[in-house]
Amino acid sequence: METIVKAAIEVRKNAHAPYSNYTVGAAVETDDGNIISGCNVESSSYGLTICAERAAICSAVAKGYRNFKRLAISSKGSGGPCGACRQFIWDLCGDIPIIIIGEDGSTEELQSGNLLPRAFDDRSLTKSKSG
Ligand code: THU
Repeated sequence: METIVKAAIEVRKNAHAPYSNYTVGAAVETDDGNIISGCNVESSSYGLTICAERAAICSAVAKGYRNFKRLAISSKGSGGPCGACRQFIWDLCGDIPIIIIGEDGSTEELQSGNLLPRAFDDRSLTKSKSG
């Protein structure tokens, strides 16, 4: 099993999901081959919950990384990234492969660019004339 897949499965064990009981683990691979992981962390004020994908990306950014090659996600039922995470992945990682890991360790690969057609991003901001 690939290191990035193992990392996503392993970090999922640390998920804090007492409200949904839906645990998620994610791992990103940096351009120089480092693997950084994150899990979902829920709040009693539900909307404050942090998804695993964003936790992993934020952790990597905090360590100084800005370029990412791949992202892997482990969850029940091979769930894909939520809409907010799709935007975040597009903004921070660009068009990269997303590895969705099944409960049995099987993998499916998607492309982040296909998950957010006609995406809003920094190019939209710079094209804005009115500021
Ligand atoms: N969750 C993630 O961590 N990533 C996603 O992309 C989808 C949802 C988490 C948030 C919440 O803790 C739980 O899964 C149920 O929505």
